[in-house]
Amino acid sequence: MFPRDFAWGAGTAAYQIEGGWDSDSKGPSIWDTFCHHEKGRVFGEQNGDVACNSYELWEEDLQCIQQLGLTHYRLSLSWARLLPDGTTQHVNQKGVQYYNKVIDDLLACNVSPMVTLYHFDLPQALQDHGGWKSAGIAAAFDSYARFCFQTFGDRVKLWITINEPYVCAKLGHEDGVHAPGLKEPGVAAYLVGHNMLRAHAMAWHSYNSFYRPEQRGAVSLAINSDWVEPLHPGSTEGIAATERYLAFTLGWFAWPVFVTGDYPEVMRSAIDAQSRKLGHSGGSRLPSFSQDEPSVLGTADFFALNYYTSRKVKPGGGCGQVLCVKSDRDAVDVLDPSWPVCGVSWLAVVPHGLRRLLKYIKDTFHNPAVYITENGFSQVGPLQMEDVQRCEFYQDTILEVAKAIGEDVVDVRGYFAWSLLDNFEWADGFSVRFGLFHVDFSEAERTRAIYRSGQEYAKIIMKHRSQTSPGLPS
Ligand code: GAL
Repeated sequence: MFPRDFAWGAGTAAYQIEGGWDSDSKGPSIWDTFCHHEKGRVFGEQNGDVACNSYELWEEDLQCIQQLGLTHYRLSLSWARLLPDGTTQHVNQKGVQYYNKVIDDLLACNVSPMVTLYHFDLPQALQDHGGWKSAGIAAAFDSYARFCFQTFGDRVKLWITINEPYVCAKLGHEDGVHAPGLKEPGVAAYLVGHNMLRAHAMAWHSYNSFYRPEQRGAVSLAINSDWVEPLHPGSTEGIAATERYLAFTLGWFAWPVFVTGDYPEVMRSAIDAQSRKLGHSGGSRLPSFSQDEPSVLGTADFFALNYYTSRKVKPGGGCGQVLCVKSDRDAVDVLDPSWPVCGVSWLAVVPHGLRRLLKYIKDTFHNPAVYITENGFSQVGPLQMEDVQRCEFYQDTILEVAKAIGEDVVDVRGYFAWSLLDNFEWADGFSVRFGLFHVDFSEAERTRAIYRSGQEYAKIIMKHRSQTSPGLPS
């Protein structure tokens, strides 16, 4: 039995679905630049110029949302569509109109929006001034956030400031496989992660002081984490490696926000030990939070979790004589051969990992209210409309969420499938499909058609909504 007000949702992100990359005065974002200018980094040199064309076809998306019977829809705002140069000096009213319509239409259909302010697409103009590596980005993000709270907060009650800071920091600034494509191992990721936490905290404090009293919404940041267990459960080194692995993903962002206002001690000591080993001079590569800025501790009104998969962990891994996050972490992940991998190679299907992670979050982060803001399972070609495996995946995963609520008493408030539509899957382009709806990218109409897994999810939602007892606490 799910709580009465349980949020049954699906998610998308602006760059992955909207298209209209330069329509109506939208400014370019780092993903526009990355796709247009960095040859060989995105599958088939594809880009999000048109994607699902949701900028023009929003009403079709709304029909999909209604067909599923969603109570909630998670979307992200394109910063550069609203503020083409990233600053509030110049507001693009066409962008404001677009999102006003989306939000109003959702509410008119009884669907609550959950809005992400930042889902990987920094305005290029801000990247040109150092992007997330520059300390000044936090204030720029805070101005943008205030603008959004002011403009949309009368109707939006669930906010995510930043989606997956880990992915932005590491894939975008250390591995170079996401925009802005920087490869500055061992230093940039920590700086970017730090500025993202500062930016998030500033925006949360702004909401708390100026908007919450009237708007009464909730604000968090979406943290991605795999569930991990030691490859050799009896090994002390393996257990320690697993703890480090978690500290360098979940803990990196959740520990400062939910527990101490600072990074996990095991993370800092591992980074500093590695610096000493390789003769890195200067201070710690992991920045420190300043006493002069508002604290990052307590700046989340709920826990927003993106969960996709699980891993087994053992000590090791690194980059030789080069400093990098992997060698700081000194923990490598491997797949358990018993876990099926059917879509992208990194996504082993492990529904029970979600239950275990939810319990861990409850025990470690003071029993927060949790929204599962992303979870899903992709297919790669040849695509099947009768995607039976994905049907089973949703059934099994939602059962694990039910157990987490019913047996482990985790305060889970909602589940958002990733994704409403097949879309531009970052460096994988359109080759990897997470949608509950198929989108035909070969034709201008971008026709949407429901997969069997979409029908299955709709059934699950309908069943649970009709079974929920009005007497249960929300
Ligand atoms: C997340 C990301 C989503 C989506 C998903 C599937 O990291 O937030 O935008 O791409 O992964 O890979």
